[in-house]
Amino acid sequence: MALKITVIGTGYLGATHAAAMAELGFEVLGLDVVPEKVEMLQRGEVPMYEPGLEELLRKHVAGIEGASGRLRFTMDWAEVAEFGDVHFVCVNTPQKHGEYACDMSYVDAAFASLAPHLTGPALVVGKSTVPVGSADRLARTLTGLAPAGDAVELAWNPEFLREGFAVQDTLHPDRIVVGVRSERAEKTLREVYATPLAEGSPFVVTDFPTAELVKTAANSFLATKISFINAMAEVCEAGGGDVVRLAEAIGHDDRIGKKFLRAGIGFGGGCLPKDIRAFMARAGELGADQALTFLREIDSINMRRRGQMVEMTREALGGSSFLGKRIAVLGATFKPDSDDVRDSPALNVAGQIHLQGGQVTVYDPKGMDNARRLFPTLGYAETAVDAVRGAHAVLHLTEWREFRELDPASLGEVATDRVVLDGRNALDPAVWRSAGWTYRAMGRPTA
Ligand code: UDX
Repeated sequence: MALKITVIGTGYLGATHAAAMAELGFEVLGLDVVPEKVEMLQRGEVPMYEPGLEELLRKHVAGIEGASGRLRFTMDWAEVAEFGDVHFVCVNTPQKHGEYACDMSYVDAAFASLAPHLTGPALVVGKSTVPVGSADRLARTLTGLAPAGDAVELAWNPEFLREGFAVQDTLHPDRIVVGVRSERAEKTLREVYATPLAEGSPFVVTDFPTAELVKTAANSFLATKISFINAMAEVCEAGGGDVVRLAEAIGHDDRIGKKFLRAGIGFGGGCLPKDIRAFMARAGELGADQALTFLREIDSINMRRRGQMVEMTREALGGSSFLGKRIAVLGATFKPDSDDVRDSPALNVAGQIHLQGGQVTVYDPKGMDNARRLFPTLGYAETAVDAVRGAHAVLHLTEWREFRELDPASLGEVATDRVVLDGRNALDPAVWRSAGWTYRAMGRPTA
């Protein structure tokens, strides 16, 4: 009989995983502790913007006309325990307030809520990003609290999905990594990830700590690539080089590769920044802090890009104060194709300029509601053109396609001054300059 799957936590990760499992043909029950989320998902609505996810949900959620009916949502832990053979734990592990360490309270609460209801054999699979050593501890919690004792097993199966590509990354992963302690657990996970999902995806079987570390190591490597190229951008700014050409040239070497070498205002979001900090904190607890001191430098290169963008803007506006200056900010989310503004470099830059007296107007294709909630005192416009109207400088801070498709000539007619600063190195300098704009970008020559 086919395995029945539950997914605990329905954020980016859980909602996508639940829909993907239903797409693969499994009966799926999703659980969240927030009633509004459960109600929305049960209506086939997604609480965040993620391309393709709503369509996938609507294809499967029970009660929606024409849907397969394989996917349902609940708040009831007993129902989840009763229903599932495999329980995926997908709750988030944010950064602790005022500390580097990650907050494990949602993971701990999920295990503590589920385990007492597990009266028969089950496989619990952790997908959340956790400090190394957590799975070992959680395995003990599980067997200690579950009435079925040793018949309940744990596996760790990190997730590598990117926001904006969550559906694609879940259905066609680069690799599937599973940390297991028994052949039975491995066999169950192979069954879950059988074709077509795993077709062509390497299936890496390993122990708990390695599985946990694969995720944090991968994110640390990606963060390192971005901060490396941003450090090169700083050197280019000092020495007159062009970081975009530099990245292209070094990227031709296959050993280096072209990806994740886009210089600009740096990385943000709910993963990379908090994951490298949590990794440092955990290494400290383990007495291995020296191994990861370089990540402190990666973090500080990244964070100072935001201040450098503010200074570049000040300079472009004549060098002294922002008072009386109108600044258009294009982009609020931490990356395009997402409505996520968590630790967004774009909003950080906008906020700094606002605090220094600039009159900032922000526009973003999908992130306006979240931005307004987080930074209610900034100005907002309903379109890019409205944001630019009357501006002394235009800051391009999130590389949405919509911004690349803007017509610099007609924008120039509504702006007060034709000054554009490209914080993502994604606009075409030739096009903007030929429309009469002063174009400046991070790590590139001024003209
Ligand atoms: C990341 C990892 O890519 C993913 O595998 C993991 O599961 C979760 O964390 P995500 O946070 O969705 O995914 O975004 P990602 O596409 O990695 O971008 C992170 C940040 O880096 C964004 O702010 C982006 O603008 C920035 N970035 C990315 C750069 O500044 N330059 C680049 O070259 C690439």
